[in-house]
Amino acid sequence: MSERGEAIVLIGFMGAGKTTVGRALALLTNWPLYETDMTIEARFGLSIADFFAARGEGEFRVAESKALEEMPRDRAIVATGGGIVLRPENLAALKRLGPVIYLEADEKTLFTRVSNGETRPLLKIADPRATLSRLLAEREPLYRAAADFTVNTTELTVPEVARAIMRFVG
Ligand code: S3P
Repeated sequence: MSERGEAIVLIGFMGAGKTTVGRALALLTNWPLYETDMTIEARFGLSIADFFAARGEGEFRVAESKALEEMPRDRAIVATGGGIVLRPENLAALKRLGPVIYLEADEKTLFTRVSNGETRPLLKIADPRATLSRLLAEREPLYRAAADFTVNTTELTVPEVARAIMRFVG
């Protein structure tokens, strides 16, 4: 088994705060922030919404696994897309990078946070609340299984979440 890296890896549902907390952690550690979604956007010259529209979710998942494989293992914060836990092969890749942190939040909070944007193709549908509920129920056990540490962000500020993670990684 290959050795685990030192990158701090953030997983969780859309709206869990992976990017925002990632930025806070990057400032605290002075490590760079990498995001699988941004890597895909840069590689293909498409926003995530346009990628889904042009190529579909299947191709997105392939691009996402490739982006994950390319993330650095050391002195970096890695923020992932909410669906990263769907492909079993991604779980080993996550673990190889370093400690995997699950940012958890209750369903109502997640819905409020994702309702502020038009950027999530999976929720640009007739009944986003019901879809969020279904996807969350499907994914919750996957996030738990992948995580070394879980932070419930529902009642916490971004700096509080970042500090809890820093305490865990030591
Ligand atoms: C997705 C989450 C998004 C993005 C894509 C698919 C998902 O990332 O990767 O829209 O399947 O949950 P965020 O979790 O950063 O919104």
